[in-house]
Amino acid sequence: MRKSFGANEVLKGIDIRFRRHETAVIIGGSGAGKTPLLRLLIGLDAPTDGHIWVDGEDIAPLDELELNRVRQTFGMVFQYAALLDSLDVFENVAFPLREHRQQLTKRQLEERVREMLATLGLGGKERHMPSELSGGQRKRVGLARALMLEPQILVYDEPTSGLDPETSRMVDDLIEETRDRFRVTSVVISHDMASCFRIAHRAYLLMDGRVVAEGTPSELADGDNAIAREFIAKSGVAPERVRRLVD
Ligand SMILES: Nc1ncnc2c1ncn2[C@@H]1O[C@H](COP(=O)(O)OP(=O)(O)OP(=O)(O)O)[C@@H](O)[C@H]1O
Ligand SMILES: [Mg+2]
Repeated sequence: MRKSFGANEVLKGIDIRFRRHETAVIIGGSGAGKTPLLRLLIGLDAPTDGHIWVDGEDIAPLDELELNRVRQTFGMVFQYAALLDSLDVFENVAFPLREHRQQLTKRQLEERVREMLATLGLGGKERHMPSELSGGQRKRVGLARALMLEPQILVYDEPTSGLDPETSRMVDDLIEETRDRFRVTSVVISHDMASCFRIAHRAYLLMDGRVVAEGTPSELADGDNAIAREFIAKSGVAPERVRRLVD
């Protein structure tokens, strides 16, 4: 699959197969093309060339109406949670249901939102405003919102950036628990190598629009791909010092 913006080719032949119920982490420096790749995956952008298979369906040629259906397969957790600041926690999480599940009664909607908030340890926070929450709580509200439409695939863009180390580790736990509990496939973009080592079944190193290495984190860190070894060495994080949450 390829993607150009005008004359600028930002994805130069990508061939990735994300495995069901696993966590894939995409690493790579600024400008490598990680966010554009993620936007193609969830149907927010179309590739210039090639296919994007989601559950047996090529979404590359779909029109806007069909893409709206496909986008509901995905839950997206944005950097900094991207909550609506003028709405309280309950309304932020209820938002996707109000948009896409208009057949629900008021009571059903309330029940679903409360249940999800309780599941993510946010019971009692319904009427708090986003500004009253900690960074970790905001992430959980963002995740609750992303889970409301019961997505099969959860996509996170830099979930730990801007968080302190302890909160970052809590977010890693949350990503792994969510994958396990909701049986989702996770695709995570990250600059955080410790996070990658903790949660990734497979990692993909993206450089200048190409996947230059892929494998388990330890295969990347200690394998025979010199580019991957060097990229990981520069992060200063040693994989053997990180406690893995998977496998
Ligand atoms: N909507 C767009 N229109 C034009 N060019 C774009 C668009 N989105 C991304 N690009 C180009 O694609 C390239 C890679 O994108 P981007 O910098 O977002 O990658 P990234 O790997 O997500 O980086 P970062 O780690 O900084 O978020 C950049 O050179 C950028 O100019
Ligand atoms: Mg980006």
